[in-house]
Amino acid sequence: VWDVRKYVHNLQSYPQINQIVEGYHQNELIALPTETVYGLGANAKDEQAVEKIYLAKGRPSDNPLIVHIHDKSQLDDFTQNISKETEILMDAFWPGPISFIVPYKSGFLSDRVTGGLKSVAVRMPSHVIGRAILQLTHLPIAAPSANISGRPSPTKFEHVKHDLDGRIFGIIQADDIDEGIESTVIDCTSYPFKIARPGSITAEMINKVLPYSVVDTKIDMDKPIAPGMKYKHYAPTQPVTLVEGGITKPIISSVIKDHKIAVIGPKSIESFISEEMIFIPLGNDENDIRGAHHDLYDALRIADQLTDIDHIYISGYNRNENTVALMNRIDKASGHNIKGEDEL
Ligand code: TXA
Ligand code: MG
Repeated sequence: VWDVRKYVHNLQSYPQINQIVEGYHQNELIALPTETVYGLGANAKDEQAVEKIYLAKGRPSDNPLIVHIHDKSQLDDFTQNISKETEILMDAFWPGPISFIVPYKSGFLSDRVTGGLKSVAVRMPSHVIGRAILQLTHLPIAAPSANISGRPSPTKFEHVKHDLDGRIFGIIQADDIDEGIESTVIDCTSYPFKIARPGSITAEMINKVLPYSVVDTKIDMDKPIAPGMKYKHYAPTQPVTLVEGGITKPIISSVIKDHKIAVIGPKSIESFISEEMIFIPLGNDENDIRGAHHDLYDALRIADQLTDIDHIYISGYNRNENTVALMNRIDKASGHNIKGEDEL
């Protein structure tokens, strides 16, 4: 573990920085912080390095990886025919929490990165540490979320350690992650573009930069654009019910009071949760979507470790443009077990 918290703005002066940079060049796996979630990074040019990622995570090999870059000039090495429209969006949102799927040019990267696809996903993260690492290594870094496949993405150093300690070369320890859900993935291989995975950069924000450039697609779980979307994700081991429209006082007092339960929801509902229940808060209130993004994966990991509960209830948020990404993750965490008040 390299604890770089004191060197956030001056990573070059971190005494062990050469070990980290060398590690990537020796094709080792090193987890690094990004503004969305921690990534499990490896040299995207090396077949073995990329192979190690799949092994360490237990990830299906048909699920391609996002390539992380520091500078747009790196794109020439492994992409081609990037459209003017794609560039406009890259310039508007990078560095930041959005990945672009663009036409792949083979030869430079290990083809294992794309899982045999003709396209490649690229992202330029904004996290000061993640960004400095990409600059200092001078390598394109393939990095999926640094969790065991099927578990929630890691938003804290402890999550990475819990999942991958002993399986990887090292972890770069930074503060807890700001955002907390994975980047928006936008498919730019045809126009208008499509959202392949919703994130904190919404279709509305993209269309504000470039009108009508992204169609509001319903994400089809049977035929997802991003292969990763079809896998079961984030689900705790106990049964989970998503309460559509949110958990209310009457629901707590009449319907679900008999179970040994944990409730996950905005802090504002805590006042009517009974004492024998375990409450895990997400952000401040039902309008605090950033807070919910930030807390969700930690909450799911906490819930998963509770031993004497039979059931987890998650309080649903009002579905709108701003909650698409949040509800996408909560839908998945519940295994799509979604109940309205009258169905409970
Ligand atoms: O925020 C993030 O995106 C984090 C940080 C570490 O950057 N990374 C991340 O990677 O979430 P991962 O591997 O957990 O998710 C990548 C998603 C998967 O759903 C994958 O199927 C999709 O992107 N993807 C990658 N390359 C693709 C491609 N060429 N075509 C379609 N989907 C692709
Ligand atoms: Mg992932």
